[in-house]
Formats: sequence, C-alpha cells, structure tokens
Amino acid sequence: MGKMDGKVALITGGASGLGAEDARTLAREGAKVVITDVQDELGAKVAGEMPECLYLNHDVRDEARWGEVVAQALDRFGRLDTLVNNAGLVRFGNIEDLSYADYKLQVEVMLDGTFLGCRAAIPHMSKDGSGSIINMASVGGLKAISAIPAYSAAKAGIIGMTRSVAIHCQEMGYRIRCNAIAPGGIVTPMTAQAIAELPADDPGLEQNASHGMGDPSDVANMVLYLACADGRHITGTTITIDNGETM
Ligand SMILES: NC(=O)c1ccc[n+]([C@@H]2O[C@H](COP(=O)([O-])OP(=O)(O)OC[C@H]3O[C@@H](n4cnc5c(N)ncnc54)[C@H](O)[C@@H]3O)[C@@H](O)[C@H]2O)c1
Repeated sequence: MGKMDGKVALITGGASGLGAEDARTLAREGAKVVITDVQDELGAKVAGEMPECLYLNHDVRDEARWGEVVAQALDRFGRLDTLVNNAGLVRFGNIEDLSYADYKLQVEVMLDGTFLGCRAAIPHMSKDGSGSIINMASVGGLKAISAIPAYSAAKAGIIGMTRSVAIHCQEMGYRIRCNAIAPGGIVTPMTAQAIAELPADDPGLEQNASHGMGDPSDVANMVLYLACADGRHITGTTITIDNGETM
C-alpha cells in the first residue's frame, strides 16, 4: 500500500530540481502525477521515469492555460488531490541594481503563479479530506537577504497567501488543506546558479555554507507528508527545511 494510492498530484516546475523529486516521491507512493514546466525536453524525460505521469507545457503566468492544465489532469486521471505550486526562478540584484523587468518576472512567476494555481485548482480538487495544496516558499521569504528583494517579496507573499487560502477552504467546508514549505540551501540547478552568480562572501551563500546543503528528497519527503493522510491535521502553516539557517 502506498501513501498516495488512488491520488492525483499536479506539480508545477516539475522538470527540474525540487519539483522533479516531488513527482518521483509521490509516484513512488502510488500517486498519478501531472508535471508542468516550460522546459519541455527535461519535463518529458522526468515524466518518462514514472509509470503514470503526464507532462504538459505550462508557463504558470498564463491564466487561460491553468484552466486547460487542470482540465487535462482531470480528463487523464479523473480527480485532483494535490497541487504543488513549485515553479520558480531567481534573478539577483539588490534594491538599487535589480531591474523592474526582473522584479516583475519573479513576482509574476512565483506569487501570481501561486495565486492562479490555487484559484484554478480549488474548484476541482477533491473535497473529501484528501485535498492538499503545497506552496513552495523559501527562507528568502522569512529572513533578509539583500541580493534578492523581489524573490523575498514573492516568497513572503506566498506565505501570507497560503494562510488566506487555508482559512478560505476551512470557511467553505472544503476539507482542502493549504501549507507552505520554506526550504533553504537545497542542491538543485537554482542553488548552482546562486553559487555561480553571487560573490563567494555573499551573506546568503555564507549561511548555506555554514548550515550545509540539503538534498531535494529532504523537501520531497515533507511534500509527501503534507499531501498524504499523515498531514491531515496541518493547514495554514509554513514548514522550514533549512537545517537551522533561520533559527
Ligand atoms: N533549491 C533551494 O534551495 C530552494 C530554496 C528555497 C526555495 N526554493 C524554491 O523551490 C522551487 C523549486 O526550485 P529548484 O531549486 O528546484 O529550482 P530549479 O531551477 O531546479 O526548478 C525550478 C523549475 O521551475 C521552472 N519554471 C521557471 N519559470 C517557470 C514558469 N514561468 N512556468 C513554469 N515553470 C517555470 C523551471 O523551468 C524549473 O524547471 C522554487 O519555487 C524555488 O524558489 C528552492
């Protein structure tokens, strides 16, 4: 018996890093999985690793496409239990250096993308107690890092939105839980980009170095916990996975 037997999960940004590992972990526990991304070749390759996994191209900023993606997930697998709003990217630059275009890009992908995802999925999610939304925040939304003002704003916004969505679902009697995860320093292409682009003495990198780097499975195991019945009494919270970086 898998912990996700009979359940269907939709994961954005599922072609790489944390999203791909979330997909593998939920599938290993019996979930049917839809992954979406803008990296088609990689997404199709990850989907091919799992027996029942569908890859769809979707830029999470595209509101109309959200409706099509949810419809295709329902059409293919018949229900929707888990939504992981995971897609993200980072552009470095402090408040004096970051362009407005790069500010908007990050806020639109991560904050607007999470808003659009919750809004598109909730009406179609299982309301029998197995519905779970997991929004990928970050330690960057909890503590000050001068190199990522827009990323921090988007992630702090996701934490606030998560609580609002959780309360809404309770008020409506939906039995859909909504939580956020705030990882820090997990080895993925995004952290490789940070190491390549930031000066070695950047405080954000120093924090990661002093607390050690985590593995995508450290986050995926929590995604599984929140998605399956183990997490049934947890909603409206943000769980930090950073080996104490934000203590
Ligand atoms: N790795 C870490 O230590 C860490 C820490 C905190 C938060 N996070 C968050 O975890 C999530 C996953 O990051 P990761 O580390 O796996 O990075 P990653 O770069 O490996 O994966 C991010 C994925 O999101 C996709 N993506 C980017 N823009 C998109 C868009 N507009 N529409 C759809 N997909 C898009 C990318 O193509 C990529 O596949 C992100 O939200 C990131 O902010 C990661």
